[in-house]
Amino acid sequence: MTSSPYLAPIEDSLSTFKDNIFSGKVLFCTGGGSGICKGMTRAIMRHGANAAIIGRNIDRLTETSKELSEQTGKTCIPIRADVRQPQTLQNAVRRTIEKFGRIDFVICGAAGNFMSPISSLSENAFRTVVEIDTLGTYNTVKATIPHVRDAKGAYIHVSTTLHHRGTPYQIHVSAAKAGVDAMSNVIAVEEGPHGVRSNVLAPGFTSGTEGMRLMTGKTKVKADGFSTPLGRFTEIQDVANAAVFLFSPAACYITGQIIPVDGGAEHLRGDLFPYPSSVIDPSSVRKLLKGKM
Ligand code: COA
Repeated sequence: MTSSPYLAPIEDSLSTFKDNIFSGKVLFCTGGGSGICKGMTRAIMRHGANAAIIGRNIDRLTETSKELSEQTGKTCIPIRADVRQPQTLQNAVRRTIEKFGRIDFVICGAAGNFMSPISSLSENAFRTVVEIDTLGTYNTVKATIPHVRDAKGAYIHVSTTLHHRGTPYQIHVSAAKAGVDAMSNVIAVEEGPHGVRSNVLAPGFTSGTEGMRLMTGKTKVKADGFSTPLGRFTEIQDVANAAVFLFSPAACYITGQIIPVDGGAEHLRGDLFPYPSSVIDPSSVRKLLKGKM
């Protein structure tokens, strides 16, 4: 999985946290059907929580919820909702409460992405990503906040490091995720007095995800020393471990923070994109952007 065994992320079964730290807790996760959010949900469930996973593709959600329930011995329910439609989210919250009686933790993870230069990005394409990522986060927080206040719980928003610099072909995602980061800070300040915490996890280029496939045409790509200081790309498990920490009592005084999980990649000159040709085949980028430049 990685270039060095010393750098491999700790699997859930070897977690440094006790198995039952989230016993009796409930996670509400948008985008939980696949990728990073699925991995975070599994890790939170492995530490004792039940979960509701929310997304647009009910077949995928159903399959994932079965898999996660079997793997963890906890209960995961799939709920169809579009984060752009507040009523569907309110319905998802209602069903979660009917099933579990509470919501302690929320992961705002639903996101959309594709590569496009601004010169060929339509207004609707820009709006679509901002609506899924930014408005979707707002809608998720609005729908869940009364329950998260009751539980004195916490939010994790899934962002990125792309917008920390000017990343080409990502103007829509950069705008959307900058909004997510800003909202998390406001939520931390406004909701702190109610006992609610809000933090952002900003994964780097992550193996095994749709984002990796979109950028490279493959889900697994080998990193080199020029692409991340730690010599490999982010693994889903890295982000899952960070989520366990952020929801755990060990992080009870951490709020309003944006935490990259990128092996230090954002501090490298020339990081992120364009990636070195050993990582991204320039011809595959040209193919993805064909006719758009
Ligand atoms: N390049 C440029 N524009 C694109 C595009 C691409 N690759 N993909 C979608 N768009 C544009 C569409 O053309 C449309 O704009 P238009 O009406 O001006 O033509 C607009 O975005 C909305 O597209 P649509 O497919 O109707 O939206 P959707 O709500 O069904 O899905 C996404 C939007 C972003 C979720 C979709 O592109 C997608 O499924 N992406 C892959 C999954 C993903 O992003 N996972 C997360 C990875 S981090």
